[in-house]
Amino acid sequence: MSPVLSIENLSIDYLAETTVHAVREVSLTLERGEILGLAGESGCGKSTLAYAITRLLKPPAQITSGRVVFSSREGYDVDLSRLAGDDLRAFRWDKIAMVFQGAMNSLNPVLRISEQLEDVFITHRPELTKAERRIRSGELLERVGVDRNRLRAYPHELSGGMRQRVMIAMALALEPQVLIMDEPTTALDVVVQREILLEITRLRAELGFAVIFITHDLPLLLEISDRIAVMRAGLIVELDDALTLYTKPKHPYTRRLLSSFPSLTGERGGFVRSGDLGDLDGTELDETEQTVEAVEMESR
Ligand SMILES: Nc1ncnc2c1ncn2[C@@H]1O[C@H](COP(=O)(O)OP(=O)(O)OP(=O)(O)O)[C@@H](O)[C@H]1O
Ligand SMILES: [Mg+2]
Repeated sequence: MSPVLSIENLSIDYLAETTVHAVREVSLTLERGEILGLAGESGCGKSTLAYAITRLLKPPAQITSGRVVFSSREGYDVDLSRLAGDDLRAFRWDKIAMVFQGAMNSLNPVLRISEQLEDVFITHRPELTKAERRIRSGELLERVGVDRNRLRAYPHELSGGMRQRVMIAMALALEPQVLIMDEPTTALDVVVQREILLEITRLRAELGFAVIFITHDLPLLLEISDRIAVMRAGLIVELDDALTLYTKPKHPYTRRLLSSFPSLTGERGGFVRSGDLGDLDGTELDETEQTVEAVEMESR
């Protein structure tokens, strides 16, 4: 496998009254098409890391060491710290897109959904005709499970879940190779959140993008991630595939984090794993899930 993103020895400080070492010598690779979960308590540096990758960090944040390299599927590498101006702006939606917490509230209230989706194409795909833009916008909406007749709607006419889906559609508009999601669904109720996550796991299988998914919700990450990185006080303290992290956590902090979610002892439904997930209630388990169940039974 070849990584699509390589974070090498990245350190970030906030130069406030006292300097905060928010991210400390983090090295991490994101494989093409994988979902990498990033977990850890509030203030451990997750968002700072996400902002650094998308080059959205602002003072007083300062990168004190390291770099982030994007390896395009077309075969070239880009050191993100070297991008500036138009190159950076183009890169940001085209290759790496993001959805942040509360993103659904950043839709423009006075513009119809169609105008907001089409704006992405006007800016980044100027060669498309008006009719082509309209068709693509409709396709995008349907891709995230929203009927295309909602193109005419204004944001306030949509539920929170639908608005968040529109934001995800927008992030996917240019078929990015990396999608960074920082607590994208925490404002939504659990059912809607799960539906949206299902959609994302299905879409990444279809479109082949990789995801960095950030949340406090470790049980959720265990369901959707291929690998999980556990972060604490700016450091990645453990990184492993989801099943190993769940069944054989090595770091005491990971163990503590796992034990702080009572739902992990079994009452939660089946895993949402990509591909064969028709079921939300976990009645049909794949191999991984069966192993998890078996381990759970043993430990009872
Ligand atoms: N603008 C800032 N100035 C000074 N310190 C900051 C600033 N932004 C963040 N920090 C500090 O950097 C550290 C990492 O913050 P960050 O927001 O990355 O954490 P997080 O893991 O995303 O937390 P949460 O789960 O609450 O979103 C924290 O100690 C925070 O107080
Ligand atoms: Mg955060």
